[in-house]
Amino acid sequence: MTYKEKIDKARLPQHIAIIMDGNGRWAKERGFDRIVGHQNGVVSVRETTEAAAEIGIKYLTLYAFSTENWGRKKEEVDALMELLVDTIEKETPTLNKNNVRLLTIGDLKRLPEGAAKKMAKCLDDTAGNTGLSLVLALSYSSRWEITNAVKEICEEVKDGKLNPDDITADVISRHLDTKSIPDPDLLIRTSGELRISNFLLWQLAYTELYFTDVNWPDFRKENLYEAIYNFQQRERRFGK
Ligand code: FPP
Repeated sequence: MTYKEKIDKARLPQHIAIIMDGNGRWAKERGFDRIVGHQNGVVSVRETTEAAAEIGIKYLTLYAFSTENWGRKKEEVDALMELLVDTIEKETPTLNKNNVRLLTIGDLKRLPEGAAKKMAKCLDDTAGNTGLSLVLALSYSSRWEITNAVKEICEEVKDGKLNPDDITADVISRHLDTKSIPDPDLLIRTSGELRISNFLLWQLAYTELYFTDVNWPDFRKENLYEAIYNFQQRERRFGK
C-alpha cells in the first residue's frame, strides 16, 4: 500500500509548511554547481504542489528565500532570484488551470524591481483561485516579520488607536504577514538538519515537526504523503 492510500482523507493537515533544504549538498555530491541543485529543486516544488493539491491540502508554505540568503555570493543570489521568478511566471497558467492561488510572505521590497513586478502579476492573476493556496516565503525571516509587527503596534499605540492593555496574541497575529493564513499543522524540513532557521517562529507554536534525510531535489509526492501519514499517527494536545 502506498502512503497516499494509507492517508485518512478526513484528517488532513490544513496547512503544511516546508523548509526546502539540501539543494547545495545534492549538487555537490554529483559534482555540479549549487545552482543545478536549485534547478532540480524546482521539480520538487512542482511535484509537492501537485501532490498537495491532489489530496486537498488548503495551504502549502515553501521557504524559498530567507532574509539571510541575501548574504550568499552574488552569482548564487542572482541565479536563485531569476529561477524563482521565471518559474513563477512560467507556471502561472498551470496554477490557474489547477485553481491554485499564489500568496507571498516576506520583505518583497528587497526584491529587484523586475522580479517584484513579475511576482505581483502572478499574485494578481491567481487571486481569484479557490483551491490550494501556495504561499512563497520570499526574503522572509520570522524575526524580521515580528519586528515589523512590533513597530506597527507601537505606531497604533502612539497614535492613540490601541491601548497597551488590549494587546493580545490575536492582535500580534493580525500584524504578521501570515494574518490571513492559519498556523501550520505540519512543518517538514528536508536534508537532515534539525533546525527552524528563523522560519514562522510565532506560527509554529503547536505545529508538528517532521524531519527527513531526503535532500530537497529528491523530494517527491510519496515523501510528502509519508510525512502526512506520520503526522496522522500523532496525538495533538495543544498543551492541554
Ligand atoms: C536550500 O538549499 C534551498 C534554497 C535556499 C532555495 C530553495 C529554492 C528553490 C527550490 C528554487 C525554486 C523555488 C520555487 C518556489 C520556484 P541550500 O542551498 O541551503 O542547500 P545546502 O544546505 O545543501 O547548501
